[in-house]
Amino acid sequence: MRTERELFLQLMVSPESRALRHAFFAERAAAKIPDVPEDTKTRPVRKAAVIGAGTMGGGIAMNFANAGIPVSLLEVKEDALQKGLSTIRKNYENSARKGKLTAAQVEERMGLIRPTLKYQDLADADVVIEAVFEEIGVKEGVFRTLDEVMKPGAILATNTSTLDVNKIASFTRRPQDVIGTHFFSPANVMKLLEVVRGQATAKDVLATAMELGKKLRKTAVVSGVCDGFIGNRMLHPYLRQANLLLEEGALPQHVDSALEKWGMAMGPFRVSDLAGNDVGWFIRKRHYAEDPSSPKLPLADRICELGRFGQKTGSGWYRYEAGKRDAIPDRAVEELIAAHRKENRIEPRKINAEEIVERCIYALVNEGAKILAEGIAQRASDVDIVYLTGYGFPPFRGGPMLYADTVGLYNVVRAMNRFAANPHADPGFWKPAPLLASLAAEGKTFN
Ligand SMILES: NC(=O)c1ccc[n+]([C@@H]2O[C@H](COP(=O)([O-])OP(=O)(O)OC[C@H]3O[C@@H](n4cnc5c(N)ncnc54)[C@H](O)[C@@H]3O)[C@@H](O)[C@H]2O)c1
Repeated sequence: MRTERELFLQLMVSPESRALRHAFFAERAAAKIPDVPEDTKTRPVRKAAVIGAGTMGGGIAMNFANAGIPVSLLEVKEDALQKGLSTIRKNYENSARKGKLTAAQVEERMGLIRPTLKYQDLADADVVIEAVFEEIGVKEGVFRTLDEVMKPGAILATNTSTLDVNKIASFTRRPQDVIGTHFFSPANVMKLLEVVRGQATAKDVLATAMELGKKLRKTAVVSGVCDGFIGNRMLHPYLRQANLLLEEGALPQHVDSALEKWGMAMGPFRVSDLAGNDVGWFIRKRHYAEDPSSPKLPLADRICELGRFGQKTGSGWYRYEAGKRDAIPDRAVEELIAAHRKENRIEPRKINAEEIVERCIYALVNEGAKILAEGIAQRASDVDIVYLTGYGFPPFRGGPMLYADTVGLYNVVRAMNRFAANPHADPGFWKPAPLLASLAAEGKTFN
């Protein structure tokens, strides 16, 4: 027992222990919203509806069925509806095969999902979540119709990843009932739910969405409206540094393995191949059009121009053998990167794992600081929870903001100043966010 106690004390003061305790309390803190009292009366959610039975809509509908809440699933065309339903059934049957569900449970859950092509069938739902194509015109049509048909007091939610929730709310005459519910793919598996609070979102709608998150067994985190919300907005600078590292001398497998050894569930290039490189490309093209001076990712664009969308096309940053998911380093990618360096007169250098990790993780930290200062995230630990539950950030490091606190913000800023001296690392990128700079100067922490 003496030995046990000695070891326990050693572990208790370790950074890993601190990180895990931080994550525990952070998850509880995320449920609290300073200006929404805990006794705010929520709206009942007994019936739900989902618009669009694609990748996300199907998974979201499964969440409701799993929680025992009947859910209507609406599509525009019969074949899309049938395709969506058969994917859902396949998912449930896979779970049954693994012994996670009985055959009766599969039927019970399928029975809670009510397919339809008619908006009238949704009219009495308490909450409706839209998961149609990511195009503002399509969303506008859906929200105008919802405004016409849904009963008063119904919550109108959008699963948009990048569009302006305030604008979507403005398509209705009830912006107070509109909110963002940003699920992560696969929606039936991933724990994270970003609840996006619009300018006009009513407090009881926000409280109801947070409560619904709990019912659906998600970890809900409040985010303000901005491009990419908390998680994907931070991903941009992270991926930008990952791409710049390639330009300077690293290969996708070097970047991925450095970050994976550090603890990330998957490195950025393997993740992109899994999620589909076209998803980010689509968003970048919109950014380029909106702001021609926005930073480019020429290598990522090139990969997409070649149709290398990732696992689904058999090649991306890596190549994949038919039916397998193993990422195999690809000479073609190496050549493409080498050609890019030559064209831009970049003399490749050997980049060590420590620099790879610091540049990618501090890119997250700096954007996290901006998100905090802007009030997009309510608290630093909310940012940590987003990365721990949605982006495979290692739990024993406690999330990007706690990690920065652990390293010491002074040290983070010092490393950033060093990167700023490297012309290939995008010097302007490394200007510390004002909040980070001031906390570092005062010897304080984010948490
Ligand atoms: N795929 C992801 O990883 C992911 C993650 C988070 C959020 N999102 C967001 O979720 C939404 C849906 O994305 P997805 O990946 O499921 O797309 P998807 O293309 O797989 O599915 C969209 C579905 O909507 C249907 N649809 C289109 N217009 C419709 C309309 N007017 N009425 C009813 N149904 C309509 C389509 O037939 C299709 O089945 C998008 O806003 C996307 O940005 C996607």
